[in-house]
Amino acid sequence: MATLRHFRLKTDNQGIAWLHFDHAESNANVLSADVLAELGSVLDRFHKNPPRGLVILSDKPSGFIAGADVKEFTHLTERHRALNLIQVAHKRFESLATLPCPTLARIHGYCLGGGLELALACRYRVALDDAKTRLGLPEVLLGIHPGFGGSVRLIRRIGAPAAFQLMLSGRTVDAAKAARLGLVDHAVPERHWDRACRQILKTQPPQKRPSRLATWADTAPVRPLLAFFLNRQVAKRAPAQHYPAPHALIDLWRRHGAHSDSMFQAEAESVADLLLSDTSRNLVRMFFLRERLKGLGKESADFARVHVVGAGTMGGDIAAWCASKGLTASLQDREPKYIAPAVKRAYRLFKRRFKAKHEETAARDRLIPDPKGFQVDRADIVVEAIVENLDVKRALYREIEPELAPDALLATNTSSLPLEELAAGLQHPERLVGIHFFNPVAKMQLVEVVRGSHTDDDSADRAAAFVRAIDRLPLPVKSAPGFLVNRVLMPYLLEAVVLLEEGIPADAVDRAATEFGMPMGPIRLADTVGLDICLAVAEILTENLGGEVPRLLRDKVAAGELGVKSGTGFYRYQRDKPIVWRKSTSSLPRRTIEERLILRLLNECVAVLREKVVEDPDLVDAGMVFGAGFAPFRGGPMHYLKQHGIAETQQKLAEFAFTYGPRFQPDPGWDKLQIPA
Ligand code: NAI
Repeated sequence: MATLRHFRLKTDNQGIAWLHFDHAESNANVLSADVLAELGSVLDRFHKNPPRGLVILSDKPSGFIAGADVKEFTHLTERHRALNLIQVAHKRFESLATLPCPTLARIHGYCLGGGLELALACRYRVALDDAKTRLGLPEVLLGIHPGFGGSVRLIRRIGAPAAFQLMLSGRTVDAAKAARLGLVDHAVPERHWDRACRQILKTQPPQKRPSRLATWADTAPVRPLLAFFLNRQVAKRAPAQHYPAPHALIDLWRRHGAHSDSMFQAEAESVADLLLSDTSRNLVRMFFLRERLKGLGKESADFARVHVVGAGTMGGDIAAWCASKGLTASLQDREPKYIAPAVKRAYRLFKRRFKAKHEETAARDRLIPDPKGFQVDRADIVVEAIVENLDVKRALYREIEPELAPDALLATNTSSLPLEELAAGLQHPERLVGIHFFNPVAKMQLVEVVRGSHTDDDSADRAAAFVRAIDRLPLPVKSAPGFLVNRVLMPYLLEAVVLLEEGIPADAVDRAATEFGMPMGPIRLADTVGLDICLAVAEILTENLGGEVPRLLRDKVAAGELGVKSGTGFYRYQRDKPIVWRKSTSSLPRRTIEERLILRLLNECVAVLREKVVEDPDLVDAGMVFGAGFAPFRGGPMHYLKQHGIAETQQKLAEFAFTYGPRFQPDPGWDKLQIPA
């Protein structure tokens, strides 16, 4: 056997072979083509000369196997090559599954995608029961579905209903849940881990099987019915025209069932098609953009204590999130009564996030109500999230700056005030940064890291590192009105209001946006954010950048109709859900509504690039997808624009400017716009 680069093989005195996987070129174990080739050669040898048992384990601290090598996907341009790559993996996994000796995957940390598919090809699986172990098949999030035989083996192991819950959502589960599902044979603490592996190989108990009911779900008469319901459920989140993968997976199971071997071949063919689809390419693109954002914040152990001032909507949730991520978070407000509701919300978050009672209690202990600000001088970073008022914020800075530890960062969550004005009067303006979270904090992954003209490099870098330390994605932006996300969203929201003024029904406007792929229509979004907040941001942006605020928005706010929070906005709400009796008909075609909304958004993207609010078009895409949910399967607004043609889009804007008014006038940035491949 040729020397191994990615694996190390040890056979112990009981004749058990321990195959250690340690990818030679990557921090995480991924199943690249050369890894699969090497695995093949090891398995060939075992077929000729089987050990008493085989344990596959990882030497990487991060986990077992993170999945297939996503980088290799990006080089695939021809279907037969894609199919070939998948079939090679199928062959290797089949070789593993048919070894004459008992086989076992010893799992810790990440066991995802192809990694879990490999584990499923083993006869047994034993997972380390700790907070880091996560198992799942997240392929749908990349626009494909399990392709290394995993869909078949998973259904055989845990039954179709549970298997589809995992595969269609891409959700991961911890070791204990995996054991309950039958995905692993045992979830054990570290001290029993090796012993449990040896014991299973020695006793060779029968393999896990789904319940009778779950097995029945895989029979020919039942499959079409379950498939129908699964398709309907998935279509609500992932319509087939935008996200074909989950629908393809349901369909191939409906046709073949997991107990026929034809599903293996059908699975491979289906993934080969999906890999070359625009949706998959764009979702893979977003995967790499996410990695890029992660890389913009260095890993740092500097942040153990955060002090948050302002326990309102944002400050309360920021402190709670930080505490849930292991930081000690003190929370200050004018009086204890303003902190109490935030603590209540935080406890609800901890309950949701932590299954183990001791983890929940530890998170509660890390959140310290601190009305008098006693903890300020101990904090590594102070996040100010008080009312959006320049004088009030400055007065607070005057009070707390002398208290700060010498190298503590001072961060503001302001959404509209220029950092330069906030920094005036500070003794150390260089350490003031903006850290702009989005609402709701626990859901929105993006955080804009705002650099003012005084902010020094070190503070900007550390702010990004803080954002990474609490597991959010930092996007560096220049201090400019609305930064990136709010600025680009605003013309899109305002155009939606103009459409309402023209008599287009709210649900027709929203439908045009959701059918384009937005997670929520602009009218509902405005109602959800609060029309008063929308109006405030719109006023600041139009003051600085020109344009007009539609009268209807002002009227609504003046009438106290503020959206979800007041029960009425552009919609009327019942239990926070808009009342829509039936689909309204619109006098404008859906396509025109969509174009008007999206063209204004794209025009603003071009403007922010011209002004260098962010460095490059990819960062616009990352910001708008992770910060505003812009249709991820389109790869971001700039990518969408490139695919549609820059010149054609500019031309369309000019036509719309003629028809609808100067708000569609193409930004000067269009003339020099370049979007690299
Ligand atoms: P909020 O009105 O819910 O909370 C502000 C809190 O600050 C209140 O509890 C108030 O008692 C407290 N406060 C006021 N002056 C104080 C002082 N001198 N010392 C201590 N506490 C004081 O406001 P919200 O919505 O949480 O906004 C806070 C900041 O976050 C603002 O700068 C806003 O622009 C920004 N922001 C808001 C977003 C949102 O969706 N609400 C999104 C992103 C940023």
